[in-house]
Amino acid sequence: MASAFVAFLLLPFYFTAAAAATSSNNSHVNLNSQIHANIEPRAWYSPSRRFAFGFLPRGTGFLVGIWIVDYTNDTNSQNITVWTANRDRPPVSSNAMIELTRDGKLVLNADNGEIRIADPPEAVAFASMHDSGNFVLYGKSSNAIWQSFDFPTDTILGGQRLPGDHKLFSKVSSSDFSTGRFRLDMQLDGNLVAYPAEIVDGPTDAYWSTNTNDYSFTHGQYYLHLDDAGRLKVEEGEFNSTVIKQLNGNYSENTGTTIYRATLDPDGNFRLYRDTSTDQLWQAFNDTCQPKGLCGFNSYCTVNDLNPWCQCVPGTDFINSGERYDGCRRNFTKQKCTGGNADTTFYYITTEKKLKWEDFPYFNAPMSEEDCKKSCLDDCYCDAAEYDSKICNKHKFPLRYVSRDPQKSSTTFFKIGTRRIEHRNRTIGPELVEVVPPSKRTWLLILLLTVSLVTYSCATLATFGVFIFKTRVIKYKRLLASRTSGLAKELTLRLYSYNELKEATKGFKEELGKGSFGAVYKGNLNNGEKLVAVKRLQKLVEEGEREFQSEMRAIGKTHHRNLVRLLGYCTEGSNRLLVYEYMSNGSLADLLFRSEMRPNWQERVRIAIDVAKGILYLHEECEAPIIHCDIKPQNILLDEFWTAKISDFGLAKLLMPDQTRTMTDTRGTRGYVAPEWQKNMPISLKVDVYSYGIVLLEIICCRRNIDLSVSRPEEIQLSGWAYSCFAAGELGKLVRNEGVDKNSLERMVSIALWCIQSDPIVRPSMKGVVLMLEGFTNISTPPCPTA
Ligand SMILES: *[C@@H]1O[C@H](CO)[C@@H](O)[C@H](O)[C@H]1NC(C)=O
Ligand SMILES: *[C@@H]1O[C@H](CO)[C@@H](O)[C@H](O)[C@H]1NC(C)=O
Ligand SMILES: *[C@@H]1O[C@H](CO)[C@@H](O)[C@H](O)[C@H]1NC(C)=O
Ligand SMILES: *[C@@H]1O[C@H](CO)[C@@H](O)[C@H](O)[C@H]1NC(C)=O
Ligand SMILES: *[C@@H]1O[C@H](CO)[C@@H](O)[C@H](O)[C@H]1NC(C)=O
Ligand SMILES: *[C@@H]1O[C@H](CO)[C@@H](O)[C@H](O)[C@H]1NC(C)=O
Ligand SMILES: *[C@@H]1O[C@H](CO)[C@@H](O)[C@H](O)[C@H]1NC(C)=O
Ligand SMILES: *[C@@H]1O[C@H](CO)[C@@H](O)[C@H](O)[C@H]1NC(C)=O
Repeated sequence: MASAFVAFLLLPFYFTAAAAATSSNNSHVNLNSQIHANIEPRAWYSPSRRFAFGFLPRGTGFLVGIWIVDYTNDTNSQNITVWTANRDRPPVSSNAMIELTRDGKLVLNADNGEIRIADPPEAVAFASMHDSGNFVLYGKSSNAIWQSFDFPTDTILGGQRLPGDHKLFSKVSSSDFSTGRFRLDMQLDGNLVAYPAEIVDGPTDAYWSTNTNDYSFTHGQYYLHLDDAGRLKVEEGEFNSTVIKQLNGNYSENTGTTIYRATLDPDGNFRLYRDTSTDQLWQAFNDTCQPKGLCGFNSYCTVNDLNPWCQCVPGTDFINSGERYDGCRRNFTKQKCTGGNADTTFYYITTEKKLKWEDFPYFNAPMSEEDCKKSCLDDCYCDAAEYDSKICNKHKFPLRYVSRDPQKSSTTFFKIGTRRIEHRNRTIGPELVEVVPPSKRTWLLILLLTVSLVTYSCATLATFGVFIFKTRVIKYKRLLASRTSGLAKELTLRLYSYNELKEATKGFKEELGKGSFGAVYKGNLNNGEKLVAVKRLQKLVEEGEREFQSEMRAIGKTHHRNLVRLLGYCTEGSNRLLVYEYMSNGSLADLLFRSEMRPNWQERVRIAIDVAKGILYLHEECEAPIIHCDIKPQNILLDEFWTAKISDFGLAKLLMPDQTRTMTDTRGTRGYVAPEWQKNMPISLKVDVYSYGIVLLEIICCRRNIDLSVSRPEEIQLSGWAYSCFAAGELGKLVRNEGVDKNSLERMVSIALWCIQSDPIVRPSMKGVVLMLEGFTNISTPPCPTA
């Protein structure tokens, strides 16, 4: 690096000197220079002629790029492309021309006009292809104004550094140089992490990292550095940098002429090579199935002759036959899912061993292997169940991040339908629309009808099919982004810069709401592909970066289906911002109190169970118990599938460092706060149980706990009124005689009344609440809550 740095400083002098002399191997490119795709030389070369900038033949056309010229006759050696301009544009035809124009622009003149190759801030005076592999544009005062090293594609070269917040994207394949399936991020927090390209960073999706998170949180500048001797290092500091981690070994051979290059390859592995050889010196990992998303949906990765090989899960076929990486889809009709229980005669189970699942199951619980199998068969949402270490993990389509692992002792049950899909059209996405199979008696009638409808249907289907496909694909993409994992290793909470979030929220323009910690704004990351909610924290207790950091880490470690997921955060100066997944269906408060259509009873019960499970996780299942302190419908959000998720958890500590201490400054919200809190008594997990009880009553009755608009004064406070209705055996009044199942209603109200007992000791634990809600335990008659 030092030598490169010195060379860099000396360059202007070198060029002023060299400009006078004219030599055949001068790399100095003057204004009004051109190269043509169909006339040799097709490139501008570096002084040693090892590197070339110019036209690369690609298929029948040409790309603009930089390559290492191969002078060996070795079969394992070839010209190596290390950089391409406008990589996602199609190749241009052979009458194209690269020009450094008279007025100082570097452009590509191709069939359909002029394309800028580089966008420097000022007019170019001259350009140069360096022996380091860096193509540099210089301004009037011979200062570098643009260089290819600042815009790496999939490769960095010896002497090059990839600064924080920069990424490499793999190529599609060795012959297609456009953006491929994987991404390597040098994150601002100092961690170098590999992800599937299109996925917003989440710990679940990361498949490799250097584990160099900045725990001291020094706000350093981090780099991935490939030095001239071929050492790959994560470094801190722009000058006199310190090595945080060296990824590979030392290479004894260092003649100074070796060109080292590190590339994120199309298969997702990060490898180091020497010169134009295609034999690697080092690679990030040996398991070729490690990159997540290597195999498409509903297929799993297995190693075949050292190469990864995608295999459809049982009951599916490749979407595009011949394209193994594109994923698979069902080849049987699925029964329509209405109640939750499946018609078991419709399906059978097939078993596979030794599969590793790295995605988050939608359900998991300890049970016996036989019960796990049965549980999947009976559950109409279940498509596969993984039984591992006495835990049953149920998954539904689309399945992803599955691979074969000979070390694994798990068993996977795949649920397969007995009826094959008849005519399937290519235009429909991976999962077909669920079809209810016709019964035998209606078969003839349907046949007759079909014949007469065929003409009409064909026309409709042609348009509709495309529509279904599109929405499906979009839904899948979203699903990919939103699913989370409890299995995730602690890899990444993304650290965002303030400017990045300011830009994402268009200057904090669209406010989604105001919570007890500050306002929440809608934001857009990844060029509008990922909606997020950005929370700007206010009125935090004074505390160090370190505490904030460790708090974020604790929240980052919580992964549950019923918790809103924290994606990352920003801490710059006095700014503290948290980035959450975006919940498209608003809050439970809106659903219960505002909307015209109240959710039906089954929906309400489901939501109540979701919320209870989220709290249970906070209380008992994450590393350190978290008291939420502010459970209320405004803090319960609904995602696009109407799954209820709790937000704002874990932040209580930031306001109140010692949760078990007596507190006078209450954080809770009037109407939901447990009585011991108002009485200045020590608080415990049971304050959340109390608040949950109130929320449960609100869910049952679709009204606020305190409602001044009611006609009779005894109805103003729901908790009191609910008990009197319960005692009088008139529960129907609570639900305005909606026709709700009486037993179910009575259970729900009883649970709520137990939760809101004024003595915290009498209240059940969240575990007890969940068991009662799911009908596993009997419920005794609750006493009067305020007794
Ligand atoms: C041209 O390149 C050759 C070989 O790299 C070198 O020996 C020679 O000195 C170079 N000439 C000039 C004028 O730089
Ligand atoms: C490799 O690069 C050299 C120099 O640009 C060029 O002459 C040669 O045709 C290239 N070889 C291949 C196989 O493209
Ligand atoms: C490569 O092969 C050609 C002919 O086969 C030969 O003329 C040339 O010298 C060889 N170059 C090297 C570097 O071996
Ligand atoms: C780097 O270190 C050298 C000597 O250790 C010192 O003279 C120089 O000022 C340092 N540079 C920076 C930018 O800190
Ligand atoms: C590589 O060499 C450097 C000194 O040149 C040494 O500090 C470092 O420990 C070596 N690394 C390995 C992995 O051998
Ligand atoms: C990959 O395998 C090689 C040879 O067996 C071993 O030296 C290397 O440490 C392995 N790499 C990783 C990341 O496990
Ligand atoms: C679905 O495809 C699998 C192969 O992936 C095949 O074994 C199975 O028989 C097919 N199912 C039906 C119902 O045809
Ligand atoms: C799929 O649809 C296209 C056009 O809509 C049609 O040409 C093709 O035959 C269909 N394929 C099958 C298998 O039905």
